[in-house]
Amino acid sequence: MNIDLLLDKMWKMYTSYTPSANQISKLFNEEVTNDHIAFRTFNTEHLSINRQAKFLEQYGYYHGGDYDFKVKKLKAIHLENDDENRPKIFLSELLCEEFSNELQNVVVEISEKTKDISPEELLLGGRKWNIDLDTYNSLAKESEYASWLYIWGFCPNHFTISVNHLENFSSLIEVNDLLKKNNFKLNISGGEIKGSKEELLEQSSILADEMPVFFGNSKQILPSCYYEFAKRYPGKDGKIYQGFVAKSADKIFESTNKKN
Ligand code: NI
Repeated sequence: MNIDLLLDKMWKMYTSYTPSANQISKLFNEEVTNDHIAFRTFNTEHLSINRQAKFLEQYGYYHGGDYDFKVKKLKAIHLENDDENRPKIFLSELLCEEFSNELQNVVVEISEKTKDISPEELLLGGRKWNIDLDTYNSLAKESEYASWLYIWGFCPNHFTISVNHLENFSSLIEVNDLLKKNNFKLNISGGEIKGSKEELLEQSSILADEMPVFFGNSKQILPSCYYEFAKRYPGKDGKIYQGFVAKSADKIFESTNKKN
């Protein structure tokens, strides 16, 4: 598989549970370029971001930065590609040992059911275990991230349009106006725009789509994934900043929160 096919598979999977992204990508009336694609996982050895990162090396991806999210108990890295027109990849993992025994037991069960998972499936395999509503609700009390991962499994969490690459839009304000005009709801946690020109990165996102999830025969409508928008600025060296701002990403994570 070449990188085009890999990225195409990711987009197809993502838009299957994030229909808004498909609609929004067409609103600009021009080809959109992705800034980054983000994934979530647990930090157990065979599910870890290290294993995902190693798999992505063959596609020209290399380590670009490290991030800690202390309150959410997550660790993340970003990968950059040899080809600058390729999206960066943002990989995060839940620090399971910092949570309750109950949560850790769920992760042990998932780890056992995914013993033979390939690294590609850690990005595109989806969910390989059965789910129940009580477990989902108790995970959600401790970690929204864990509860999201429990029901959706291993799949792209979001794609991000690079505003720098748009020809007809130059600011996030204009992009956000377009979204609102088309009735998409923005994540306002931390303000509509997270970050600033001084921090070299501004980001916004819509709230996650709501999709049916089946717990046995019982159907629940729950947040799936969201679409993000990023504008980057040059640093003192004159080069466009390629990293992430942990404080902003922390708020963006909340785009998959349940709305009530
Ligand atoms: Ni992002």
